[in-house]
Amino acid sequence: MSKALDMVRAEVTRLSPYNSGLTIAEVMQRYAPARIAKLGSNENPLGPSPMLAGMMQGSAEMFRLYPDPAGRELRQAIAAKYAVTEDQVILGNGSEDLLSVISRAVLRPGDSVVTLYPSFPLHEDYATLMGASVKRVGPKSDLTIDVDALTEAVRGSPRMLLFSNPMNPVGSWLSRDDLSKVLGAAGDETLVVVDEAYAEYAEGEDYASALPLLAKSDRPWIVLRTFSKAFGLAGLRIGFGIAGDPQLRGLLDRVRTPFNVNGMAQAAALTALADDEHLAHVVALARAERARVESFLRNKGLKVAPSRGNFLFFDCRQNASAFVEGLLRDGVIVKPWKQEGFDTYVRVSIGSPSENDHFMAALSRLL
Ligand SMILES: Cc1ncc(COP(=O)(O)O)c(C=O)c1O
Repeated sequence: MSKALDMVRAEVTRLSPYNSGLTIAEVMQRYAPARIAKLGSNENPLGPSPMLAGMMQGSAEMFRLYPDPAGRELRQAIAAKYAVTEDQVILGNGSEDLLSVISRAVLRPGDSVVTLYPSFPLHEDYATLMGASVKRVGPKSDLTIDVDALTEAVRGSPRMLLFSNPMNPVGSWLSRDDLSKVLGAAGDETLVVVDEAYAEYAEGEDYASALPLLAKSDRPWIVLRTFSKAFGLAGLRIGFGIAGDPQLRGLLDRVRTPFNVNGMAQAAALTALADDEHLAHVVALARAERARVESFLRNKGLKVAPSRGNFLFFDCRQNASAFVEGLLRDGVIVKPWKQEGFDTYVRVSIGSPSENDHFMAALSRLL
């Protein structure tokens, strides 16, 4: 090994590169398709609130000055919307930033972290980086969450319980009752982190945010949300966390970089948060289109996981990386899953009706 590589901690060498998928420019360069449907990263086809249109005007001052490092105005608005206090709210450069901040602040070598599998890779990577061991709880054969296995794993008193609900990449979710069963099994020695990146798409029906449940307890907890998905601001990089204990939030604040969220992102999030009408439109379209794409996939005889997110996870019954190459040729970008036991699965984001048509036509040709 070279001297430079000797410098790096062993935990770093165990990490896999993030499977971010191809950009539009890369697909154009490789296959030059007539048009592209980018359905690999769970982005929102309608984008952010149209109320953002005027924001670029007068933004030169925002570019020149440092942003508010405390993000006061936005944190106040988040606190009001989610019925918490401002001192419980922390902002991140995307919620992925907060996953890193929490792991760096909390995890010690040898700690254990319980998470769902297949997993959002960063739920495992930051734990691995800190020298913690990850205990994965796989799904049942119908791809729903194995609530009993998860509850049992939580009873083992891990340092952290970290999972997304609805869970990425599968889309399955814990109902209100299942969630309270799992959270009820966590003792005070476990930091509960519920990543609710897709909550807006799932709210209602039998899904509920963990916030009201956790707010009633004094155990250590954090709920993560993002502006990247239903709020349509993935490119600006902004997410937030709500911690049960304001003192925990204060300590996490010392771990993040001081200006982690830029001024444009703060201003855009503030505007997006106020536009309930646009959010309702985004969610209604995603749900209707998800049902349409899901029944198409089922009619093709493919196994599809139940989903409350803006994406579907299905078994293409062959190596997924090879399969998606066929879709790429037609200009459709989806994500082949690469984790062990799920490498025949593909995750497709729900796009606009015409992007979804494009995906379904390309898939029909391929099958
Ligand atoms: C479950 C989950 N958590 C967190 C993130 C990170 O989102 P962001 O950093 O854009 O807020 C994602 C993105 O795909 C996700 O799926």
